[in-house]
Amino acid sequence: MLKAVILIGGPSKGTRFRPLSLDVPKPLFPVAGLPVVQHHIDACYRLGQQRSSIPEDGSESNVSKYCVAEVLLLGYYGDDELADFLLTATQSYPSLRIRYLREPDALGTAGGLYHFRETILAPLGNTDGSEGEQVQAFFVMNGDVCADFPLDEMLDMHFCNNSLQSQHQQKQPVLITVMATETTRQQSVHYGCMVVDKETNIIQHYVEKPSTFVSNTVNCGVYLCSPRLFDTIAEIHLEMSNSNGNGTQQHTISSNKNNINLQQQQKPTEERVAAAMVMWMEQDVLRRLAGESGSGCSSGGDGGSRIKKDAVCSGVALAATTRNWWSQLKTAGAAIYANRHYLALRQQRQRLLQREPIDLPLPSPVKCRLATADPKGGYSTIGNVYVHPSAQVHPTALLGPNVSVGEGACIDQGVRIKESIVLQDAVIGQHSLVMHSIIGRRAKVGAWCRVEGSAACSDPNPNVAYAKMTPQLPLFNALDGRLNPSITILGCGVNVESEVVLLNSIVLPYKTLTRSYKNEIIL
Ligand code: GDD
Ligand code: GTP
Repeated sequence: MLKAVILIGGPSKGTRFRPLSLDVPKPLFPVAGLPVVQHHIDACYRLGQQRSSIPEDGSESNVSKYCVAEVLLLGYYGDDELADFLLTATQSYPSLRIRYLREPDALGTAGGLYHFRETILAPLGNTDGSEGEQVQAFFVMNGDVCADFPLDEMLDMHFCNNSLQSQHQQKQPVLITVMATETTRQQSVHYGCMVVDKETNIIQHYVEKPSTFVSNTVNCGVYLCSPRLFDTIAEIHLEMSNSNGNGTQQHTISSNKNNINLQQQQKPTEERVAAAMVMWMEQDVLRRLAGESGSGCSSGGDGGSRIKKDAVCSGVALAATTRNWWSQLKTAGAAIYANRHYLALRQQRQRLLQREPIDLPLPSPVKCRLATADPKGGYSTIGNVYVHPSAQVHPTALLGPNVSVGEGACIDQGVRIKESIVLQDAVIGQHSLVMHSIIGRRAKVGAWCRVEGSAACSDPNPNVAYAKMTPQLPLFNALDGRLNPSITILGCGVNVESEVVLLNSIVLPYKTLTRSYKNEIIL
């Protein structure tokens, strides 16, 4: 049985995504009609549907071991912020158990995992009360990446390598398989970079966001981990506790793990059961595992690791390099890009289902409609368009390509929308045009308006092989102080009066615009 942990961060994250993350946590921002993290959940759900065969070496005979049974969202948002989403997600995927684990504080990408290790590894009880299957492995997915997740390939690599290793009685099991992709030389330094042995796929060297070029192969922030990885993290934890002493980042957790009570080193020693500590999957765990394969790589230029590399060897890390589409979701422009790809993926899957209805996965339980042309003589579309069933679109409107219209939105007559996301309850007035823009929740665009963003910034450079979205594009041009080309964003509740032209601008929530703007942030 498998589990998946999605790292969703907390309110202090998603700053580059503002103002869109002001009224909704970034992991719940709708892309192609679904909250960002629901695409992760959907990928986990589909894995169970599509895995009809066991690994080729026949090492495992129980197919259900390769189904994700539980998805754990791990972060430090308040419980209330995720309650509605958890309810609807649970209803949409009845075969999955979906829960939120709230970190007592921001514990980093590995600290939270370690803190909740017992919950992550706990078998799921059967309905007859007997103890369920053990967790064979668990996925860890950064909540801020969007991709055609190759979970199946990662499983094959992880388990086949593990069984090969045991056949040859090698001492180092595979502890983690990292989804990897190629990027350009210039962009690679914004990611975790890996030097990978082409034959064995073993990661020989790992540097998180290096200052100079290390490798074109970068970490996608999606991992498949063996339960034994926690032994390595425990070692790291111990070393860090010893070197920290009573360091400032260390917190004490009371013995009741379901009722976490965070206290800053005040408890008497006997009550201390485990110390929650900030740890990073990248700097602390991956960097330590890379180089334990016997290649003996020396430490890299990241300089951030607090762990000695000559510690006892515990296992290896593999890289599953993919050519599937993958992107980070750091900026609003990236949401437009992700929207396009997720719509295309969904369209592709629906086509496959129509062609081979028996062998292919069951339809994902997403209540959505990919509009082509409304058979009842409704609105027209070009390319991939998602319209929530409750949205109203006038028959004379033209949508697409790559448009998502959210719940309860209202699109009036003669409206043209392309390459945009229109969020819940937004209204677009008669004959207005919306292009390369995101229209916030309950925002209202009057009649004969033009709301347009820059196309160039919502796409990686198409002329450069392996180019990705630029995650670090500055908001302002250093020379003239103007806003760099960006998509146009209307924050929640913005009111744009009729006949206004809004180009390449970002409007903060609840503003009323009575005149036209160009290249501005309207505060
Ligand atoms: N639960 C929890 N707690 N989640 C966290 C925390 C934390 O304290 N800190 C970050 N996260 C989550 C974020 O919400 C995000 O989903 C993910 O962990 C990684 O966030 P960052 O720490 O901002 O890292 P990054 O996105 O700049 O880089 C990471 O992802 C890249 C791929 O997108 C690294 O893993 C890179 O190596 C990698 O290339
Ligand atoms: P391609 O997308 O490359 O095919 O370009 P196109 O020339 O077909 O134009 P586009 O798809 O952007 O526009 C299609 C329809 O939208 C046409 O009927 C245009 O007249 C209309 N349109 C373009 N700009 C505006 C505008 O500012 N307001 C309104 N209401 N309609 C517009």
